[in-house]
Amino acid sequence: MTNVQLKDVRKDFGSFTAISHIDLDIASGELVALLGPSGCGKTTTLRMIAGLEVPSQGHILFDDEDVSEVPVQDRNVGMVFQRYALFPHMSVEKNVMFGLKVRGTPKAEIEKRLEDILDVVQLQQFRHRFPAQLSGGQMQRVAIARTLITNPSVLMMDEPLANLDTKLRGEMRRFIRQLQQRLGITTIFVTHDQIEAMELADRVAVIFDGKLAQYDAPDALYQRPNSIEIADFMGASNIFPCSFSSDGIAVTSFGQLNFDASIVEHRSGSGSILLRSEAIDLLTEKDETVENVLPGKIIGREFFGATINYSVDCGTAVITVNEQSRRMVDVDQDVWLTIESDQIWVIQESV
Ligand SMILES: Nc1ncnc2c1ncn2[C@@H]1O[C@H](COP(=O)(O)OP(=O)(O)O)[C@@H](O)[C@H]1O
Ligand SMILES: [Mg+2]
Repeated sequence: MTNVQLKDVRKDFGSFTAISHIDLDIASGELVALLGPSGCGKTTTLRMIAGLEVPSQGHILFDDEDVSEVPVQDRNVGMVFQRYALFPHMSVEKNVMFGLKVRGTPKAEIEKRLEDILDVVQLQQFRHRFPAQLSGGQMQRVAIARTLITNPSVLMMDEPLANLDTKLRGEMRRFIRQLQQRLGITTIFVTHDQIEAMELADRVAVIFDGKLAQYDAPDALYQRPNSIEIADFMGASNIFPCSFSSDGIAVTSFGQLNFDASIVEHRSGSGSILLRSEAIDLLTEKDETVENVLPGKIIGREFFGATINYSVDCGTAVITVNEQSRRMVDVDQDVWLTIESDQIWVIQESV
């Protein structure tokens, strides 16, 4: 079990700065996702942690020991990539054993570890097959097994599921999560998919433009993003300008809403209000007993099976409401939206 720290890390490629500043603390046994749009610096960060790149500034520590200059072969890290890079002419078991063979591990030890790892990744029945005879998910499991058999102290995965179809990706996420929890191995998982990051990770490090934008547990990141950019990236649809006061009243163009004042730390100011579409209830009759009621009219409806998105025109803004599809409300109907004050998040303008 290894904890990993990045302290004031920067990476330049010539005159181009790929990472301008990252501080990160990954606890032993934790699964952290590095999340951000393509080109933001996720792979570069991972490669520095692995020892494939040396930081231009700052330090990388494993268990409090500075490994910034230690090359990859001396860091005991395991890497899994989007492209499986299996040896096509070798069977599953030969692919899995390869890393130990080149290290000169004794044969008996290799065979024991092979059995263990084939059990762990559930590939016993495919051990004599060749990569061409495997599905994408099975190949990815071989790639994971090949890495795990070397007993890395840190496991790193760079968009390992990007080549798989949606359903298989879901299965592989659960598989990776269970495996990681069972082994208790510190894991860093790179993805540009926010759903994948939230489903898998203990904590998510959002990277924008070479900087760490927020580092939090998935629910905190989703419910309490610290900027509009993060809210938007995490999939929020209702973000509107507002002014707010320290007594918990937010004024928007479409009305006043009460929110939990403790989130603005006794300040007043301007910023943006975030109304998560699934936190809003849609009423077909006016109810005087609930707080934060906004009148509106349904102007659009998208059916997703389990849920429905309604577009509701509230005068100066169109608000998206996500509801269970057990009940359907028609387009053009007058409705009232309501949201509990503790479901509202206010993003303060940075000063
Ligand atoms: N070896 C390199 N030389 C020059 N620029 C690089 C190199 N590696 C990455 N970059 C640049 O650094 C930025 C971050 O890249 P990368 O870490 O691969 O992003 P991500 O994995 O988030 O898509 C990109 O603009 C990329 O073009
Ligand atoms: Mg990348």
